[in-house]
Amino acid sequence: MKNIVILISGRGSNMEAIVRACASEGWPARVAAVIASRPDAAGLAFAASQGIATAVVDHRQYSDREAFDTALAAVIDAHAPDLVVLAGFMRILTPSFVEHYAGRMLNIHPSLLPSFPGLHTHRQALEAGVKLHGASVHFVTPRLDHGPIVVQAAVDVLPGDTPESLAARLLDCEHRIYPRAVRWFVQDRLRVEDGRVEVEPPESQLLVRLQAAEVLQ
Ligand code: GAR
Repeated sequence: MKNIVILISGRGSNMEAIVRACASEGWPARVAAVIASRPDAAGLAFAASQGIATAVVDHRQYSDREAFDTALAAVIDAHAPDLVVLAGFMRILTPSFVEHYAGRMLNIHPSLLPSFPGLHTHRQALEAGVKLHGASVHFVTPRLDHGPIVVQAAVDVLPGDTPESLAARLLDCEHRIYPRAVRWFVQDRLRVEDGRVEVEPPESQLLVRLQAAEVLQ
């Protein structure tokens, strides 16, 4: 039985999707704790309602990133995690923190990485005029929004899309790919070689939801 610790900063809908899939699909894992970087993170209430241990490590209480990350790691490690899941965790992490969880920390980023790292990815995509947008689940490395890609979801950008409409359509896909990636990890099915991730036995690492695109077969 593997221990999963999930870090959130706000709504926590990806965390909720993972918690529900873990229970309904009978993963060889349990969500041991949900930890928030803000006391007002809405997702804490859902986690508590599921009987999951919750904690807050409020970033505003720490003078610098090192102090925050040291305190955060202590709370995480108290739950003996096999996997740390960043689910809308909006903090930049120090290299030593990332190193500590190397190979056992996943993040979801709302773009088709390596395009559009950083904030406001939906606006970035619309401003760039790309026709395909998406989300990526990746292993975390010290570089921001970078690391071996486990699974991606893609949607077509529709005429009239706003950052909000694009985000909402994509969020639904995020809820499909993040539980899938976490399940593969806890089933020991992920192999990383030369910065690329393979799933064994193979399963699709790309989910596509198109509404207006012409599809070539
Ligand atoms: C999600 O869209 C996630 O991809 C994004 O924040 C949202 C969190 O929603 N993450 C990032 O932007 C990380 N750079 P949630 O709290 O409902 O899961």
